[in-house]
Amino acid sequence: MKCVDDFRLRFGRQELVPIMVGGMGVDISTAELALEAARLGGIGHISDAMVKTVSDRRFKTDFVKGKLKRYKFNVANSDKSAVLFDLGRLAKATHNHVDRAMQAKRGNGLIFVNCMEKLTMNAPRETLRVRLSAALDAGIDGITLSAGLHLGSFALIADHPRFRDARLGIIVSSLRALQLFLRKNARLGRLPDYIAVEGPLAGGHLGFGIDDWAKHDLRVIVTGIQQYLHAEKLDIPLIPAGGIFTGSDAVSYLESGAAAVQVATRFTATRECGLPDKVKQEYFKANEEDIEVNMISPTGYPMRMLKGSPAIGAGIRPNCEAYGYLLDGSGNCAYITAYNREVAAHPKAKKISVMDKTCLCTAMRNFDCWTCGHNTYRLKDTTRRLADGTYQLLSTEHVFRDYQFSIDQKIALPPDPSPAENAPNQLNQAHGKPDK
Ligand SMILES: Cc1cc2nc3c(=O)[nH]c(=O)nc-3n(C[C@H](O)[C@H](O)[C@H](O)COP(=O)(O)O)c2cc1C
Repeated sequence: MKCVDDFRLRFGRQELVPIMVGGMGVDISTAELALEAARLGGIGHISDAMVKTVSDRRFKTDFVKGKLKRYKFNVANSDKSAVLFDLGRLAKATHNHVDRAMQAKRGNGLIFVNCMEKLTMNAPRETLRVRLSAALDAGIDGITLSAGLHLGSFALIADHPRFRDARLGIIVSSLRALQLFLRKNARLGRLPDYIAVEGPLAGGHLGFGIDDWAKHDLRVIVTGIQQYLHAEKLDIPLIPAGGIFTGSDAVSYLESGAAAVQVATRFTATRECGLPDKVKQEYFKANEEDIEVNMISPTGYPMRMLKGSPAIGAGIRPNCEAYGYLLDGSGNCAYITAYNREVAAHPKAKKISVMDKTCLCTAMRNFDCWTCGHNTYRLKDTTRRLADGTYQLLSTEHVFRDYQFSIDQKIALPPDPSPAENAPNQLNQAHGKPDK
């Protein structure tokens, strides 16, 4: 019986453990988590979502405060078109974030950054170019293009000196999306180095419609893409993602030709994960019926989350002057429209509720949108219940090794906790406080 460790992901002459921990914004897949995956010989992702907030937290910079100060005059205005990102500061924040991870990297693995196209930031092309270039400048091993079609993203960095040596990959959820990407980029003479194929059981945003996501099946999509690449004589590593919960699940994909797997949900239960410890307990406690796919993300993509997420129904004033990551090229965000509609409908109300959309920037910043994979309800089976009723947090190393070596659908429980091991994560206790 085979385990994941019997396989290797090959990039040229480089051999890796074929486990890629997926990007989880905003700083849920922390540098600490990614560094562990790299140290153990796999691939870890950081995410550049809301990178100014992340830099402020880690480096005591004041990017968010500075932006809010600059645009304070516009807070009560529903037209946000004036609220632009300072590209120099965006580059600096990205550099801080990536450089910190790369400087700390040990071992033979790699660290990639997850870049979501749907973070349109009121100037989609300009801001994405800066994000991608700054990550390359700071020495990132690779970039995973996600959440969006990214048809023009390669072209934005085609002149960068690292365009051909960094590992550049893309996440797709259909053959059609992949074909569009390849067609659009054919003239650049550069194929993606890997293709992550994300199915409907993943966490975060889903690349399917709200009415049909449940009809799709990861294995069917992967097989279709495999056949297409074979017919086109394209040798690009395929990396399935979404619902791969055990080492045996991973092996079944590797045996049928996948180059690696991308996994995330099991790492949300680790100490290195950026979620506050009390939110990690919500993930452990969740039952299957506590998880839903809804449309509250202003991006227009369905998103999976715990039904108890404080973000659902929160009617806070849009915080675009401080954040503004989801403003489209004209300064609009679907949450602003929904919020204004509710304010107009309840002119006397002190507090309103907005059910159909959420201010995702604020929610993600405060860890109030508990996005999760479908299999989150199984996390409780991967650990021990402690005397006080809480669940024992795991180490990233434990989860990584379990994927790497387990067989027969088994999941290894963590060693019995010592008091020190169970102390709350100091770093995470700082989370959840709003930016000043
Ligand atoms: C908490 C959480 C946050 C996520 N955030 C992102 C994200 O910011 N960008 C992205 O491309 N994928 C995101 N994902 C998807 C993962 O990177 C990954 O592809 C997927 O969840 C793998 O499936 P699994 O969670 O069942 O292992 C997220 C997943 C989780 C669980």
